Amino acid sequence: MDQGFHNIPEEFKINALTHQKTYLINGELIPWEGDFSKVYSTISSTKDYKPTLLGSIPNLTEKEALASLQSAHKAYNKGQGLWPTMSVADRISCMEEFVEQMKTKRADVVKLLMWEIGKSLPDSEKEFDRTVEYIYDTIEDYKQMDRDAAKFEKHGGVYAHIRRGPLGVVLCLGPYNYPLNETFALLIPALIMGNTTVFKPAKHGVLLLSPLLEAFQNSFPEGVVNIIYGRGRILATPIMKTGKVDVLALIGNSTSANAIQANHPYKNRLRLVLGLEAKNPGIILPDADLDLAINECIAGATSFNGQRCTALKVLYVHEHIVDKFNKRFAERVDALKFGNPWEEEVKLTPLPEPGKPAYIQDLIDDATAKGAKILNKKGGETSENYIFPAVLYPVSKEMRVYQEEQFGPVIPIVSFKNIQEPLDDMAESNYGQQVSVFGSEVKTLAPLIDSLVNLVCRVNLNSAAQRGPDVYPFTGRKDSAVATLSVHDALRSFSIRTFLASKDTSYNNAILKELLDKKTSNFINTDYIL
Ligand code: G3H
Repeated sequence: MDQGFHNIPEEFKINALTHQKTYLINGELIPWEGDFSKVYSTISSTKDYKPTLLGSIPNLTEKEALASLQSAHKAYNKGQGLWPTMSVADRISCMEEFVEQMKTKRADVVKLLMWEIGKSLPDSEKEFDRTVEYIYDTIEDYKQMDRDAAKFEKHGGVYAHIRRGPLGVVLCLGPYNYPLNETFALLIPALIMGNTTVFKPAKHGVLLLSPLLEAFQNSFPEGVVNIIYGRGRILATPIMKTGKVDVLALIGNSTSANAIQANHPYKNRLRLVLGLEAKNPGIILPDADLDLAINECIAGATSFNGQRCTALKVLYVHEHIVDKFNKRFAERVDALKFGNPWEEEVKLTPLPEPGKPAYIQDLIDDATAKGAKILNKKGGETSENYIFPAVLYPVSKEMRVYQEEQFGPVIPIVSFKNIQEPLDDMAESNYGQQVSVFGSEVKTLAPLIDSLVNLVCRVNLNSAAQRGPDVYPFTGRKDSAVATLSVHDALRSFSIRTFLASKDTSYNNAILKELLDKKTSNFINTDYIL
């Protein structure tokens, strides 16, 4: 495979290292005097393969982890802090200030996205732009939520002014595959609803946050956003053990989510907002438009090398069309261009986890030992930072590639005779995020859709699984998610309904009237935010 070491465009060359020497606590960027970890890209800058040094990040300890929690706790101040009691309009202004500053850092963030996680240039730009749009959409949705709440209701002789209030301190842990977008899709709604946060970036995709640290520092009151660096186990464990975290917001896998939440001593105090792993199937029915199905399955299984929780991770193809599908699909996979993220038309890019090619190779070896064949010529070709996607067929339940979420470039295909087979497999699976179903006959599709919507949370008709558009609910059943994230739902996931109730008496009503007239409460407020 051509690694494209040469011809790195001038604007994307790493001419200076990014040494992240500070961390953000109590509104201060505190210089770190201890150990640092070097950050490497698996992309080479030289003709002879060598990982590229990008910079370094602090290796913080339990002490700084607890200090960051203390800072968030102080800013929340038992619900009495400046941030949780601030007016909605003022919190929105802080967010607007942040997003304006963020937009000026697009080029820096996009460049680091490419180097740190190997995401292609168009996809890195899309991740940035989508995140900016997510922030604007969140602001608009929050305004609407506020407008809807700017009133009193009366039932049974009791007036009520009902709003949504913050939950407290949120520990926010994002994933490496969308280190900006998915992390911010947790952080932004958590913040705007009045919570305070401790945020630890993922293992890969860390330096790309450096250009944004000052924006966080400038835009929010001190202690509202705390950013710490280091190993998850070392930092998250002591934080959780204090019992002072009100929400664990994590996008990652269920094993680490379970391990982290187990440290919390007060289970009912801890809210969970989790986006976890999935094994989304693509089901190709005999009457499917094959060109369309193949196009969508290529995108669904190979975009960002399959490193998406929403990726199609197993394809069920009806036995009547499986040979035709396999042949054409395998050819299409082999035609995908591998290269560095900035190369034109590149579809497959270096894997950020150095151990990933070996893991994928293990899956291939296990499957071929149990009877599967690699259908495409390039399948399994390996270089220092990549393994070309292998299309494996016939895949059976004993194979690891059937059981495990591969989160990388390998595509298992299973054939089926009766639609009940994939339905039973989905019901048995620990996952339940999405499915893609390809077919045209309404007689078949109608009952199928009626069953599928009860096994997963999004059924994609003749299209690849995906999270977006971000206004749609993003959630899952079983080990795939807890709570729902969309622009709209995330505001609810990070808040709770809370209200003032007041008996309809002239004594109370006079007080309410004065509260409204004087506008001294940020909660009791019927203003319409424009
Ligand atoms: O890793 C999971 C992401 O939420 C996937 O988002 O479907 O838009 O690529 P996407």
